[in-house]
Amino acid sequence: MNAVSIEPSLYASDFARLGMQLEVLHEAGATLFHFDVGDGHFIPEITIGPVVAASISPLLRGWGARLDCHLMVSAPERHFEAIAQAGGDSVTFHVEACDDPPRAIAAARALGLGAGVAFNPTTAVDTAIEASEGADLVLCMSITPGYSGQAFMPDALDRIAQLRAGLPAGVSVQVDGGINRETARAARDAGADLLVAGSAVFWQDDVGAAYRDLVEVVA
Ligand code: DX5
Ligand code: ZN
Repeated sequence: MNAVSIEPSLYASDFARLGMQLEVLHEAGATLFHFDVGDGHFIPEITIGPVVAASISPLLRGWGARLDCHLMVSAPERHFEAIAQAGGDSVTFHVEACDDPPRAIAAARALGLGAGVAFNPTTAVDTAIEASEGADLVLCMSITPGYSGQAFMPDALDRIAQLRAGLPAGVSVQVDGGINRETARAARDAGADLLVAGSAVFWQDDVGAAYRDLVEVVA
């Protein structure tokens, strides 16, 4: 069985208490944090961006934790430098938004960033696999990207399995959208090793306990 990491998605946090919630998650053992950038163009929503990343990245660096940035934006390469300067550790761009994935992956590497390729539920798995040569991870969306709290699309499980089968062993399969106790197990069993969780962590009374609970169900 593959080892699975749970990545809290900060988009679902209470931004008035973001630093405190990060501390709680750090104490609960989280070392990887998912940061959703949306531009109101590639997705209808405007989310969070480099200004917020810059204010939290020193905290995460101090813990040895990483900020994994999911760019739900058009022309993603334009934002890589700002993400790197803000202390982001990796960028995952959407294949639907990028006309030259190899160039984007190289541009991320040149800035010292990890690189990932995301794809929407309506995009063929093979398109993502072809675009991901040289990437660290491929992100299979299990919702239509936009906001936290949507239900996991069951057909994502087949796409996860196809992705795992088509990627080299060292490339991670990340899943984002609707992850909870049940879907986390199903996604793991289909071959995922990085699970993003927004509402299942942050929209709970005890954020640290909710994170630990998800870690335990996939252990
Ligand atoms: C939405 C974002 C997700 C979101 C996930 O498009 O990419 O990362 O925060 O939230 P949940 O886990 O609630 O679906
Ligand atoms: Zn995301």
